[in-house]
Amino acid sequence: MTVSQARNAADVALPSLVSGTRRHVLDLDDFSLQEMELVLTTTDAMKEVLGREVKKVPPLRGKVIVTLFYEASTRTRVSFEEAGKLLSADVINVSSSGSSVEKGETLLNTARTLQATGADLIVVRHPHSGAPNFMARHLERSGVVNAGDGWHAHPSQALLDMYTIKQHLGHLKDIKVVIVGDILHSRVARSNLWGLTAAGARVVLCAPPTLLPRWFLDGGHRQGNGPLASVEVDSNLDRAIEGADVVMALRLQMERQQAGLLPTLREYSKMYQVNQQRLARARPGALVLHPGPMNEGVEISSQVAHGAQSLVEEQVYHGVAVRMALLYLLIGSKQGEVKE
Ligand code: CP
Repeated sequence: MTVSQARNAADVALPSLVSGTRRHVLDLDDFSLQEMELVLTTTDAMKEVLGREVKKVPPLRGKVIVTLFYEASTRTRVSFEEAGKLLSADVINVSSSGSSVEKGETLLNTARTLQATGADLIVVRHPHSGAPNFMARHLERSGVVNAGDGWHAHPSQALLDMYTIKQHLGHLKDIKVVIVGDILHSRVARSNLWGLTAAGARVVLCAPPTLLPRWFLDGGHRQGNGPLASVEVDSNLDRAIEGADVVMALRLQMERQQAGLLPTLREYSKMYQVNQQRLARARPGALVLHPGPMNEGVEISSQVAHGAQSLVEEQVYHGVAVRMALLYLLIGSKQGEVKE
């Protein structure tokens, strides 16, 4: 057997949304390009549903989704809840405050309890990297969707970013995407890196050297899908942004200044804020993305955040459609009931 035959055999054995064998969405590093494309085309159908006067459709009738959030969230939590409800699932929201987590219940026992209640899917956000993977390893029946874990991954955010870019540019291949900000602590940057490079985009990471992990410089490894395509790194935003098709600003996590990773916020903004002057160096009409929540005046100027090139609110809208697609592909009946 040749190496490529072995790789193909391994790929066939990997859980996939395409074959209907995937139970969990933990990151995009184990997604094939075909799977990502399936999510994005299914998102088109969900966006059509969102545009209807009556948005409710039946494919998840009788399914139970639990959102389990150990960390604050507005966009992700609301959009997963809305996505589940529009597809007619029963959605139950649990947050760590007010649940038995406050009495010291472990993550494993909480997860097993939710599985025992009959949850088909648990959508989890957790401050510790790897918490969703840990749950997935220990649950026999419930699926797990990572809604953001520590610095590790935020796969549904990356998929909605890819979808938003594709809606405007038509494709992702060979486009230049500059991701600027606190790369070191960003789960959004990590998941986008897997997705965008797999789709053929050229990704440039831009941050002060103290906020750039070695991991990106050395290249990562896609599970079962070969090495990560090379990424470029540049600590000079004025240079990095030249000719960019897309500029993705990341939230600066303010506590990093206390950790001594930044001189001052003023200094950081001077060097790394996405503002009109800098945006003028990108391709004319370049798209501006931000996963939110934004620190306006720090990593992005208010003028850019709310300007004509900003897709921030469109990202949120697409977030609902992308999450509908994920829920449908994971636990929906595959009989085409989206059409009512
Ligand atoms: N982008 C994002 O994850 O936002 P929330 O923290 O509000 O969910």
